[in-house]
Amino acid sequence: MTTVTAPVDLRSDTVTLPSAGMRKAMTRAKVGDSQRGEDPSVRALEEHAASLFGKEAALFVPSGTMGNLVAVASWTRPGDIVVASAASHIAGREGPGISNLAAVAILGIDAPRGIFTADDVSGAIASAPLRSRANVRLVTAENTHNAGGGAVFPITSLRRIRSVCRKAGIPVHIDGSRIFNASVASGVPPAEYGKVCQSLMFCLSKGLGAPVGSIVTGTREFVEEARNVGYRVGGGMRQAGIVAAGGLYALRNNVRRLAEDHANAKTLARALAEIPGIEVVNSPVETNILLFRWATPSVSLPEFQEALRGKGVLVDDRAFPRFRAVTHLGIGKQEIARAIRAFRDVFGRAGA
Ligand SMILES: Cc1ncc(COP(=O)(O)O)c(C=O)c1O
Repeated sequence: MTTVTAPVDLRSDTVTLPSAGMRKAMTRAKVGDSQRGEDPSVRALEEHAASLFGKEAALFVPSGTMGNLVAVASWTRPGDIVVASAASHIAGREGPGISNLAAVAILGIDAPRGIFTADDVSGAIASAPLRSRANVRLVTAENTHNAGGGAVFPITSLRRIRSVCRKAGIPVHIDGSRIFNASVASGVPPAEYGKVCQSLMFCLSKGLGAPVGSIVTGTREFVEEARNVGYRVGGGMRQAGIVAAGGLYALRNNVRRLAEDHANAKTLARALAEIPGIEVVNSPVETNILLFRWATPSVSLPEFQEALRGKGVLVDDRAFPRFRAVTHLGIGKQEIARAIRAFRDVFGRAGA
C-alpha cells in the first residue's frame, strides 16, 4: 500500500479542515429555522461572539465578504464615501460588490502595511471634495491587514482613530477577518478591539478552522439593520446551527493555538531569509502571513509552481515573483520543516 502525503498547503488559512472534535460538535448541534431566529446553535454563537467583543448583539453570516457588505450598507446610503486602506480587502477585493450593492465609493489611504494613523484619517476626510465631504460616512480598519502581511493594527492607533471619528460623527468598522490573530499576537483582548469600533466583522472559517461563516457585531439596532440587509442579499439561512456549532467550537478551542501559527510563520521567515536571492517583504513577521520575493527568478511562475508542487508544497503567488505563505492549524513543525527543505531545494536549484 502506498501512502499519499497531503501537500503542505500554505496558500491561505482558508484551506483549514474541520477537526474530529469540531465535526462531532456539529453533528450534535441543536437546530431550527435560523432566519426566524429559532436556531439555538446560531443564537448561542451570536451571543457568545457579541459578549467576547463587549457588544450588544451579533449576526452570523455565510462569509466575511457578506459581513463587510452588510456592515457597510447598514452604516451608509448610496453615494456615500467609505475611508479604508487602499490595499484593504474592502477596497480591493470586495470593492465591486460594495460599490454595486451598497453603492458607496472607497477613499483609499496609502499606508505602510495598510496601517494608517488618525492623521491619515483626518487628511483623507479633508481631501474629499467639498461637496462630498459630508458624505464620508464610515472608516474601516483591517486587523490584521492581509495585504500588509498580517500586520497588527496597534490598539493605540485605533483609539486615536476612534477619537478623531467620534469628533467627526463617523462610525468605525473593523474588518477583523483575522482579529483573533491580532489579539493573540498583541495580547490585546477582543473586548478592547470592541471598544474602538461601532461594528466589527470576524471570520470563523480562516485560522479558526470552522468550515463556514463570519460574525458581524455591534449594537442591537445596528445588528437588526445588518440582519435586514443580509436578508435582502440572500444571507437568510435555515438550519445553520450545524455550521454555527463549528464556529462556536472554534471560538472555544482554536483561539489560543494561533500562537503556534505565528511561531511557525517566524521559523519559515527566518529560513527563507537565509536563502540567497529571497527577501522576506514583511520582516519582522507579526502573525501567520508571510510575504516574500524572489529577486531574480530564473524560471517562470508555472515552472516554479510545478517544481514546488513536486516537493509537496503550495504557496500563493502575489504578483510573481512575490509570494504569500500562510500558516494555520493544518501546518505543524513537520510541515514547516518540509516546506523549508522544498524552498531551499527549488530556489537553490533554480538559482544555480
Ligand atoms: C481581510 C479580509 N477581509 C475579508 C475577507 C473575506 O472573507 P470571505 O472569504 O469569508 O468572504 C477576507 C478573505 O480572505 C480577508 O482576508
